[in-house]
Amino acid sequence: FPVQGFQQDLINWYIENQRDLPWRLNQDPYRVWVSEIMLQQTRVDTVIPYFNRFLSLFPTLKDLAEAEEEKVLKAWEGLGYYSRVRNLQTAVKEVAEQYGGIVPDTAEEISKLKGVGPYTAGAILSIAYGVPEPAVDGNVMRVLSRVLLIYDDIGKAKTRILFEDAVRTLISKEDPSSFNQAMMELGALICTPKSPACLICPVQDHCRAFDQGRQKELPVKEKK
Ligand code: ADE
Repeated sequence: FPVQGFQQDLINWYIENQRDLPWRLNQDPYRVWVSEIMLQQTRVDTVIPYFNRFLSLFPTLKDLAEAEEEKVLKAWEGLGYYSRVRNLQTAVKEVAEQYGGIVPDTAEEISKLKGVGPYTAGAILSIAYGVPEPAVDGNVMRVLSRVLLIYDDIGKAKTRILFEDAVRTLISKEDPSSFNQAMMELGALICTPKSPACLICPVQDHCRAFDQGRQKELPVKEKK
């Protein structure tokens, strides 16, 4: 598989076509963290106003660490899955106390924080710190299942690990942030679940599913 050509086509497309999203304004690890937690079970369009309001109420990690829980829950009202924000505040307090308010920049340390699973860890490390770690969510599994023609069930834990290993091989070591965000963006804008826009896809030339006309068979998700 021609890794370099894939990276270049993907990242060049991302640089030209990325959406202006508020969490892309800068690389503050705290902002990246909040955005990734919000985006886990909630759509981008819904998240944008919540993200802006949350950041105006709690502009820094220290502000969130010191905030009253009631005010934090209030700011989350409507987003649902409140354990997300409870865990976030617990973790932020831990960073304030144990790490002097600096979000750790290694997979080992960041993964110990409450609510920070492999996806969130990889997203923060790559986007905020430029560390070449995979950030594999459902979008990324869909894109990669098609590009690499992988029929493993994406509902299984070991399939996620397979995709993480694939990303470790594919990720740009020069620009891990753009690579991971480009994979998410491709999944959101082009390589969509029902009718992927293969004819305008920047990585069409590298896609095994497109080559074989099998993009609609993927990803495989067995019923539970
Ligand atoms: N979905 C999850 N993380 C995202 C991000 N950083 N940008 C856009 N969509 C996302």
